Amino acid sequence: MRTVRTVKDLRRLRQHYTEGRETVALVPTMGALHEGHLSLVRQAKYRCQRVIVSLFVNPKQFSAGEDLDSYPRTYERDAQLLSELDVDVLYMPTRDEMYQAGASTTVNVVGVGEGLCQATRPDFFSGVATVVAKLLLQCLPDVAIFGEKDYQQLLVIKRMAQDLDIPVTIESGSTVRENDGLALSSRNAYLSEDERISAPHLYYALTQAQHRIHAGESISKVLWDSEQYLISVGFEAIDYFVYCDADTLAPCDRRLTNRPARFLAAAWLGKARLIDNIAA
Ligand code: PAJ
Repeated sequence: MRTVRTVKDLRRLRQHYTEGRETVALVPTMGALHEGHLSLVRQAKYRCQRVIVSLFVNPKQFSAGEDLDSYPRTYERDAQLLSELDVDVLYMPTRDEMYQAGASTTVNVVGVGEGLCQATRPDFFSGVATVVAKLLLQCLPDVAIFGEKDYQQLLVIKRMAQDLDIPVTIESGSTVRENDGLALSSRNAYLSEDERISAPHLYYALTQAQHRIHAGESISKVLWDSEQYLISVGFEAIDYFVYCDADTLAPCDRRLTNRPARFLAAAWLGKARLIDNIAA
């Protein structure tokens, strides 16, 4: 596995793969890798001949007061895991390489990039869309793969790539969970022992809501009960628990029968803000 730190070196390798008529998949990450990330890497290997994994803790997607400085960083272990999976390139740009002095362009996705996570993390999606646009243009992969775990982020990235005519296919990978249902996340490291015991209730609440809506119960009652349930099992605050159109993220108060729908939730346990979602 080659470790590359500059756009110039990345482009040189990309050019080499193009000359060899090899396809390239990119898996962007912020490191602290877990089985969820690794499942995307395996999918990338299945899809393309060459796999590039980027590891960059993107300061632009953290608002002031968020966990940029304390975000888990496990570079050596990450590199070891990726080389065991036979990844071709680990792209780890420095902050200065990614955001050159004077950089003044931000990519902002309205519509799917508004509401839900954006309501409490106002800089998040513009930071994500900007860095992912840059990563796609730096690497020019045939395919880039993102997790359904971050469902709103996935839709924002699909929209951005389409709107900016970036020649890439955006694919998604399903959410990898612990045995008790908790979606893997680098931020699960923030959970105390007791919080870790409460954490799987988020997924449980989503699956219960799904069953109840299929059984014909009122959506507003199910959503209200789900929030109350989460509070009763120890969650301190619920940012959102919604049933929405899976393509537009428009909230729905009636069951969608002719379009895909999704439950999405974000809730706080101590210092950790957990997000999860399932198809409805
Ligand atoms: P990060 O949180 O490191 O996640 C990298 C990729 O792994 C994302 O596409 C995310 O959706 C996916 N992922 C995370 N947990 C997962 C799980 N349990 N199962 C499957 N996939 C999972 O998301 C980011 O980084 C950043 O915002 C990034 C897109 C890299 C831009 O900075």
